[in-house]
Amino acid sequence: MRMRKMSCRPKLAVAIFIITIIVFTHRLIFTLTTTIDSSTNDQTKLQAMKKLAKDERLAQVNKISAKFAPFYKKQMQETYQKMDELQDTVNSLKVDEVEETEQKQDINIDKKSYLRYLKAVNKADLENPFVNLHHYEYILNNKKACNGNVLVLVLIHSDPRKYNERQMIRETWGSVRFYSGANIVPLFLLAKVADKTIQDKIVEESKTHLDVIQGNFLDSYRNLTYKCVMGLHWVQNYCNNTKFVVKVDDDTMIDVYHLVRFLLQKSPDGNLENFLYCSVYSNQGPRRTTDDKWYVSESEYPYSKYPPYCEGFAYIMSNDVTKKLYDASRYVKFYWVDDVYVTGFAALQAGVTQRKMEANHGYDLMEARSFSKNVQTNMFLLAKYSHLRRNWHDAWNAIKSYHKKE
Ligand SMILES: *[C@@H]1O[C@H](CO)[C@@H](O)[C@H](O)[C@H]1NC(C)=O
Ligand SMILES: *[C@@H]1O[C@H](CO)[C@@H](O)[C@H](O)[C@H]1NC(C)=O
Repeated sequence: MRMRKMSCRPKLAVAIFIITIIVFTHRLIFTLTTTIDSSTNDQTKLQAMKKLAKDERLAQVNKISAKFAPFYKKQMQETYQKMDELQDTVNSLKVDEVEETEQKQDINIDKKSYLRYLKAVNKADLENPFVNLHHYEYILNNKKACNGNVLVLVLIHSDPRKYNERQMIRETWGSVRFYSGANIVPLFLLAKVADKTIQDKIVEESKTHLDVIQGNFLDSYRNLTYKCVMGLHWVQNYCNNTKFVVKVDDDTMIDVYHLVRFLLQKSPDGNLENFLYCSVYSNQGPRRTTDDKWYVSESEYPYSKYPPYCEGFAYIMSNDVTKKLYDASRYVKFYWVDDVYVTGFAALQAGVTQRKMEANHGYDLMEARSFSKNVQTNMFLLAKYSHLRRNWHDAWNAIKSYHKKE
């Protein structure tokens, strides 16, 4: 009996407890709902008030702006235009981001493609008399230009007709042949021209300055790869004592003082190897628009991407790299875009990896307004467009004064 009594009381307690909970929960829910309701009400009221205030302000603005309507309209148009531009920029950024991630995923597939391009060649594909067989002959040669102890040979790709541009280089950075105990040798690489008057002038130029090399093929931009490999050929045959070779175009100004100091610092004993230093292009591919000067057909290059390669305005190589690239060119099928051929395909074939230019070693356009800043932060200034040519001598003066030269 005692046991039964004992078991009956807890049941009652539990029941009371449950009822209490239910009642309490119900109240709680009721309270909460009410609170939420009232707060929702408050918010709606607040929004309504805000809207009213906004409408009032807008009405006011409209009233005022009616007076200044033309001005106001113009201002708004400008604002909208700016907003649109901003949106465009943002949109384009987004597109770039998407493409970049896609490209990252593709890079191994692409690399395989280039390797296929490099390896899947017939013997007949490797019989180009210039880039593969290296049958270079020189119409003009200055074989002794590189005699002695040379730190850096600068090969300047130049159009035979561009006498003035060469002269501008000779008067500026090309005149610095010795600095900080190091010899610098600038040489112009030209090829054949049909025009005899021009040829005669080049012969005179070479006699006077002893800095012209002229190859036995027609000078044209579709033959630039011939010229580039000719430069490597010349180094192997007449300049294998140099520590470094720099390739530039004739619209490029080099801060030679900066270059020499950088090379001496990088390689005090001149024994640096495997050094291909440049502004690296990655995830680039051929231009497929038919009216583009650099248009490449699918049959010339079937893939959408190139391996990484150097921007051609300037790249720096330790001398062993020139030999590796030159040897590799025997096994790489001719391709007319010279930077891609030499610093992309041949480099991949030779196992040479491009190193990205560090800050302060890059390039900028030769804009007059920013000389002092640009000279401090770049090693190369580019006169890519004809209006920039006018700044050539001023740019050089800025470089000299930065290095406290006369
Ligand atoms: C390249 O040079 C070769 C040899 O002189 C010439 O036959 C060919 O027409 C040139 N190619 C172009 C596209 O100018
Ligand atoms: C330069 O060429 C000569 C003759 O071909 C060779 O004996 C020498 O080892 C070469 N030097 C270098 C640094 O490659």
